[in-house]
Amino acid sequence: MDKLVIRGGNPLKGSIQVGGSKNTALPLMAAALLPDGPVTIENVPALRDINTFSRVIAVTGTRVDFQAETHTVSIDARGLDRPEAPYELVKRMRASFYMLGALLGRTGRARVSLPGGCAWGPRPVDLHIKGLEALGANIELDEGYVVASAPGGRLPGGKFRFSPSSVGATINVLLAAVSARGPSRIENAAIEPDVVEFCRMLQAMGARIQGVGTRVLEIEGVDRLKPVTYRNSPDRIELGTFMIIAAIAGAPGIPITITSADPDRLGSAFIEAFRQTGSGFEVDGSSVLVTAPEILIPVNIETGEYPGFPTDLQAQWTVLLARTTGNSKVRETIYLDRFKHIPELRRMGVNAIVVGTEVAIEGGNKIQGAKVMSTDLRASVSLVLAGLVADGETHVQRVYHLDRGYENLEGKLSNIGADIERVRYDEWADPE
Ligand code: EPZ
Repeated sequence: MDKLVIRGGNPLKGSIQVGGSKNTALPLMAAALLPDGPVTIENVPALRDINTFSRVIAVTGTRVDFQAETHTVSIDARGLDRPEAPYELVKRMRASFYMLGALLGRTGRARVSLPGGCAWGPRPVDLHIKGLEALGANIELDEGYVVASAPGGRLPGGKFRFSPSSVGATINVLLAAVSARGPSRIENAAIEPDVVEFCRMLQAMGARIQGVGTRVLEIEGVDRLKPVTYRNSPDRIELGTFMIIAAIAGAPGIPITITSADPDRLGSAFIEAFRQTGSGFEVDGSSVLVTAPEILIPVNIETGEYPGFPTDLQAQWTVLLARTTGNSKVRETIYLDRFKHIPELRRMGVNAIVVGTEVAIEGGNKIQGAKVMSTDLRASVSLVLAGLVADGETHVQRVYHLDRGYENLEGKLSNIGADIERVRYDEWADPE
């Protein structure tokens, strides 16, 4: 296995580039199953999750060619003859569940494994299933698989209201609705930038969707979607992560330039909280310039749906709060148990405790290097952040979690002056 070894304390300077969005690329890849011809998606990050999803898609008989060097994926579903997503792959990545809507839309049939729980607790898929049933799908459970079919091979379409609003379920229902026989209406649709970009690609393929970017989507099913070449958007969570890194580890007064960024996708709550910390934040075209202040001011946050504070930046924000001079709170409203990083951060000297759905953080304590373990993607990057500002050496183990969502993080951080390297290790070796 790999770990990241970080010797903390280097002031970071220079320029760092944001890659293509993971959480947008995945639904774009699912959409590529709908037309009868080759679809090309550009600016796709070279990540474990993209490789996993490529394998999920390939199982169906679809041709998938992911070129990591050029960040381009080509998908040609003309040979799709097996509308299935097996447990062995779905269990590795929940977003594989997008195959349910994609296969139903494409072939009128799907057999997709139910994803299990996840590292921080239950993540149900009931809304995906109810939404597809509302469009007219017959759905049964069979030995851990969801087996779905459209009467007469094509869904009639229908109306569904999400409560709560769900990114993944909105995407799944849209994948099936765009080629239904009749019209559909989705109420309380997710408006996260990933969903909006996904709708734009569907529209480019000829889908008829009204209300993109709003809570109500009206869809008129079409007989055929056409193949396209589409460019994926920049990763907003990677941008937010780099902004936090610049604020806590940048040389005070000297801006770090974050390139290929689209800060609008971060949402107003994050930007506002970020400015309140006293960090400098300027936008120059597609670059964001962040200047670390002499003293960081504590800012309480509460996660929320877009444009609220993204849950995927909550763990990283906790590290920023630990570097302030006061006490603060983080409240989670999307995934109430998403605090697996806290016990590991505590091992590094961060004084944070979980009380219900909140974390109380006491700023100003020394952060010390330690051997720590990743439990999920955003938890693991928060440990890297802590390592960058810690005294001494931090070993972030089980870094495969990080590789799901951050491409070459150690390379990008080394370029701006961090002392960080990837090292192979034996998880079960006795201590030296
Ligand atoms: C997406 O997950 C992202 N994943 C997550 O990012 C992100 O944390 C999340 O949206 C929230 O923004 C991908 O895009 C691949 P939801 P998703 O359905 O779609 C409840 C990362 O770190 N719910 O919008 O699974 C659910 O429990 C990942 O990159 C139901 O009750 O999230 C949650 O409370 C982690 N029933 C809320 O809705 C359902 O059927 C929102 O979840 C579905 C969801």
